[in-house]
Amino acid sequence: MMGSRLVLLIAVLVLLSIDYSFAQSAEIARTPPMGWNSWNLFACKVSDAVVRAQADAMASNGMKDAGYAYINVDDCWQGTRDAQGNIRGNEKFPDMKALVDYIHSKGLKAGIYSSPGPKTCAGYEGSYQHEGQDAQQYAKWGFDYLKYDWCSAETVYKNSDMPAVYKKMSDALRATGRSIVFSLCQYGLTSVWTWGAQAGGNLWRTSDDIQPNYNSILALGFGQNAGLERFAGPGHWNDPDMLEVGNGKLTADENKLHMSLWAMLAAPLLAGNDLAHMNPEVLSVLTNREVLAIDQDPLGEQGHRVWQDGPIDVWVKPLGDGSKAVGIFNKGGPQDPVTVQFRTLAVGKFAEVRDLWTGKDLGRLENSITTEVPAHGVTLLRMR
Ligand code: GAL
Repeated sequence: MMGSRLVLLIAVLVLLSIDYSFAQSAEIARTPPMGWNSWNLFACKVSDAVVRAQADAMASNGMKDAGYAYINVDDCWQGTRDAQGNIRGNEKFPDMKALVDYIHSKGLKAGIYSSPGPKTCAGYEGSYQHEGQDAQQYAKWGFDYLKYDWCSAETVYKNSDMPAVYKKMSDALRATGRSIVFSLCQYGLTSVWTWGAQAGGNLWRTSDDIQPNYNSILALGFGQNAGLERFAGPGHWNDPDMLEVGNGKLTADENKLHMSLWAMLAAPLLAGNDLAHMNPEVLSVLTNREVLAIDQDPLGEQGHRVWQDGPIDVWVKPLGDGSKAVGIFNKGGPQDPVTVQFRTLAVGKFAEVRDLWTGKDLGRLENSITTEVPAHGVTLLRMR
């Protein structure tokens, strides 16, 4: 009797000592996070008023209904620490708690940004030696998401310290008892996809910063992210960086290509434009439900390239209902119609095909599909 109690006691102790951080972090962000982030357009011009305006827009323009949830403040919100070392907002963010309450009142979630180093990339106060205190502060304010950007951490740590440094903040966030999405930003160094989930990350950047131009989108989407699909899945995602849809001089076709590629990559979808001032074409690209469904598919498989010929790239993403998303991309100028064989896509001899940007059923096709793909554009299909 004593013996079996002892065994039970030991079993309980062993269970308690197992590190469940990976399992816990996987409970949030079951599909790639969707929201908005201030950096791509506003950079250090971000303010409380700008952020509130984005929350107002997201809550009322159809984005929230389409699944966008996070309103994320990036760099440049930080002020000084008080006598106890608590971080405070700067003059552009006079009351962080009130801001978060406002975002929550719109039925949205709130995100914040810091660095494991002494300073952020823009030179503001980082979390170095204040990790636990900052995590508590973010939770007290009510934040639901933290982007943690390496920046000046390189002056106090070695690259090989990264997993432990990120795990430290992940543990601190978990200790708050709040569900906080943890976004790793260290530009893909040290093959972060191989350790990001174990360090508690729900997403990790795979590359340097995106820019609001077509070549940057091609480089990040087709380049660094290709081939990383086995590291992505529910709760932990490769992040080719935030969206530039609606920024710079991207054309309508380039915006669609960008959105389609990110959806095929099961990428986090953080709009980076001014949601309060965008034209209907940009909004329609951001809120196409059938395209978002590819990104948000519950299976959580990142798509992969199956065919490439000159400027034409064909990608497939298996979906939870057994159908497949197929992206036929034209990275170059005007082309003749493209024919893709079903065997290349590993779909059967016949397939029901739907075009997700035109919203048209193309019917039951046999053996192949032929489509005209515009310059810098895409034909995005769902095949069953
Ligand atoms: C970069 C980061 C950007 C943005 C910026 C802020 O390192 O990749 O996404 O957060 O810092 O200073």
